[in-house]
Amino acid sequence: MSRSAPFDAIAPTYDPSRGGTARAAVFAGQLAPLLDPAEPVLDIGVGTGIVAAELTARGHRVYGVDLSPGMLAHARDRLGARVAVGDAGRLPVRTASVAQAVSTWLLHAGPDPRAVFAEAARVLRPGGRYLVIPARGGRPTDDIGRIVNALEDRLDPDGSRQDDPRHLAPLAAARDLLFEGTASERPTTFRVSPHQMARSLAGGRLFTGAWQVREEDLGLVAEACERLRALPDPDVPRVREMADFVMLFRRRGPGGQE
Ligand SMILES: C[S@@+](CC[C@H](N)C(=O)[O-])C[C@H]1O[C@@H](n2cnc3c(N)ncnc32)[C@H](O)[C@@H]1O
Repeated sequence: MSRSAPFDAIAPTYDPSRGGTARAAVFAGQLAPLLDPAEPVLDIGVGTGIVAAELTARGHRVYGVDLSPGMLAHARDRLGARVAVGDAGRLPVRTASVAQAVSTWLLHAGPDPRAVFAEAARVLRPGGRYLVIPARGGRPTDDIGRIVNALEDRLDPDGSRQDDPRHLAPLAAARDLLFEGTASERPTTFRVSPHQMARSLAGGRLFTGAWQVREEDLGLVAEACERLRALPDPDVPRVREMADFVMLFRRRGPGGQE
């Protein structure tokens, strides 16, 4: 199976199943005040271009790269020739040519974050910024969350799948991208029942299949699904609380200058 296959498969339903333009407008609203409208923006992992289109509507000139031709076909409808198929770990972009880059919901979705940071650092000019909205701003700790978090910690003991500042800041710093903090924090909620969560984990396809659990770990997933199904009222959706925020990374200047 190709690396883009999970997102190629869900491309036709991706936008409506992920909050549609309402979610994209919120993300663009979080990013826009942190961007310089005079400079183009590189959207790494642009997907269907739904967030990039909202940034464009706010006066930004956005270019995008994504691994999935299926997702990118939708982005092309929105952004025309400003998008290209490419790997975030090998960007088709000149060194030190970009003043600002963004990624929304990319780092949990398959690429090695170390390779993404190395490439973001390469293409950014010294002093340039990389703004990242992670997929999971803090893990919910409700009854579903406690089971899913424990599963993820067992499957990924070194945290390389966790797109949060604690795990990402040191990886970025080692590649000349300094973590400057978070901005534009916005509490958010979503609803999911234990049964829905168990169905989405079944077969070891975590994060829309971007994280396919190894054969030998499928027993751990099955065990977690059993625990989810055994929760009280497993068909009743829980209102789950999270916070969306932007992580700010800045490209170090020449000679390691900050
Ligand atoms: C969850 S989607 C987010 C898309 C978009 N940023 C958004 O917020 O709607 C993750 C995207 O990352 C892309 N992706 C995953 N691995 C990638 C890689 N190595 N290089 C470039 N894009 C990648 C997928 O194809 C998918 O379009």
